Amino acid sequence: PLIKVAFGLTDLEERIAEAFGLIHVVVVPGDSDNSSFTKKELGRAGAAALRKFVVKDDVIAVTGGSTMAQVAHHMSISSRMKGSWFVPARGGLGESVDMQANTIASTMAKKTGGKYRLLHVPDHLGEEAYQTLMQDPQIQEVVDVVRKCRIVVHGIGDAMVMARRRKVDQDTTRSLQAEGALAEAFGYYFDRQGNVVHKMPTVGLRLDDIQKTEVVIGVAGGKSKGEAIASVLRHGQEDVLVTDEAAALEMMKHA
Ligand code: F6P
Repeated sequence: PLIKVAFGLTDLEERIAEAFGLIHVVVVPGDSDNSSFTKKELGRAGAAALRKFVVKDDVIAVTGGSTMAQVAHHMSISSRMKGSWFVPARGGLGESVDMQANTIASTMAKKTGGKYRLLHVPDHLGEEAYQTLMQDPQIQEVVDVVRKCRIVVHGIGDAMVMARRRKVDQDTTRSLQAEGALAEAFGYYFDRQGNVVHKMPTVGLRLDDIQKTEVVIGVAGGKSKGEAIASVLRHGQEDVLVTDEAAALEMMKHA
């Protein structure tokens, strides 16, 4: 579109795609750190990117967060998505209700006319509780659907911001710092090089499931997240990135 050419964003999209090995990049103008308009545009562009890749009777796994909530908000009724299943990528990750993956999956289904399955798994699972839940046939059934997803749409956050938001305990926070955690996505914490330094104990998609997923779409923006986005992309799961100008410029400094 004309607006992108005028802002020089098409060139930025191409440079990001090449630097991080992505098949499709969308950069919206502005900085969602300080503009709610840009954040909404990010959501709109995220919804459009998802629409572009959806096929008939698809299974789409989504994560939580305020950006994904904006993506859900911008989805609309679509004959192609009517047969789609929306599922949370992972169980409880310590988000408030409006930002939980379950909420986002069900909103997306309602907005598009699709269907959804939810994972009712509490936050901060201990090892024993985790093992028990994994045996539960109802949880197993949903997890089986989640693992069959063809598309993952996910947010990306700064590691320390996310640890604080999730009220992660002090010991874990200290070890995250010691390990150089910089970014977070789908319950995994990554260092600058894109190595996983910590996993949150919950059910759902594992990293090797995500590796096997056909289309992985990351949606994240804001200057403060630029370096975190670069770290997650360095781990190399994503095919598509939807971001904003401020994050994109910051990412190029870390490319
Ligand atoms: O907790 C879900 C999640 O998608 C995280 O994996 C990610 O780091 C975060 O939300 C992004 O949240 P926001 O879009 O609000 O910055």
